Amino acid sequence: MTRARIIGIGAAAPKRILTNKDLEKIVETSDEWIVQRSGVRERHIAEEGEATSDFAVKAAQQALERANLVPEDVDFIVLGTTSADMVFPTTANLVQHRLGCRRVGSVDVFAACSGSVYSLSIGSQFIQTGKYRRVLCIGAETLSKITDFTDRGTCVLLADAAGAAILEASDDGSGIIDTDLYSDGQYWDLLYMPGGGSRHPATHETVDARMHYAKMKGSEVFKVAVRMFVDCAERILARNGFTTADVSLFIPHQANLRIIEAAAKRVGMPMERVFTNVDRYGNTGAASVYVALEEAVSTGRVKKGDLLLLAAFGGGFTWGSALIRW
Ligand code: UT7
Repeated sequence: MTRARIIGIGAAAPKRILTNKDLEKIVETSDEWIVQRSGVRERHIAEEGEATSDFAVKAAQQALERANLVPEDVDFIVLGTTSADMVFPTTANLVQHRLGCRRVGSVDVFAACSGSVYSLSIGSQFIQTGKYRRVLCIGAETLSKITDFTDRGTCVLLADAAGAAILEASDDGSGIIDTDLYSDGQYWDLLYMPGGGSRHPATHETVDARMHYAKMKGSEVFKVAVRMFVDCAERILARNGFTTADVSLFIPHQANLRIIEAAAKRVGMPMERVFTNVDRYGNTGAASVYVALEEAVSTGRVKKGDLLLLAAFGGGFTWGSALIRW
């Protein structure tokens, strides 16, 4: 059976690092509060003028190099983001040109922080059907550009980065075994950005009302997120005949260390088999699972034959998982 296999993975982040101490000077918060409630110690934040595609291109270049490929080898691009360079054209479209790809199809996936597993799942379908030989999947964000740095509930969490994976067909049993995607729009107002769309087009009033920033009901998101993580992790394992004991490494969306710990505990996964880098990256939305996977692979935490469980959740609500035999 043909599976889509990751043959190259890359990541990139802005050079500038914002620590919790730096944030203490911006909003009423403390390093102690942020670490205790979220596990975040520092995060990468883009400079003025830097945009999402800048980091997406860097991550994609690294993934291509590691796969020993050139941009002309890419047959399709799917990019998850919530902080696109512009409303349109898509960021995937900008990446296609800036990378130097052929005139291949490209599309953005707006699934908030689940854009990682959504883009990976969409990419893998094109490989499995034989439609395309190589698909470039990307998760990229500059969430700092839609973050209200007067809102301490969000600005201590959201951050910037990009990750990319090149998919190719594999017949040796390795690759993406299954993916599982969900959404439930009843939760839309737990995490959203009201301004700039067709409901509230940009006006002086929407700017004055700070409607062009992400709004979040943090503690409500927390509760729903843990339920969704647990639900989709258990479901994808069960329907493929596995249990958590079979999982070599769980790589969850890096939203908050407490959410990750609570979900891991409920599914019975010891933290030694859970990958986290939220302490150094914060919540990088659709990029986070790619960035975590890249770090896990490049630091030797992932070995050939390992079973990886990826899971993400985000605004919408959207959530989903992927099971990979490395
Ligand atoms: O990709 C999905 C994105 N979103 C998430 O994953 C977010 C999920 N939620 C969370 O991570 C947590 O809910 C937060 C980290 C946002 C907040 O932690 P919490 O333990 O749920 O705190 P809370 O919202 O219940 O607030 C507790 C207190 C409040 O003060 P009062 O009302 O008790 O006086 C907040 O005003 O903490 C206050 N607070 C802060 N204090 C210091 C909220 N943010 C801060 C802050 N520094 N940055």
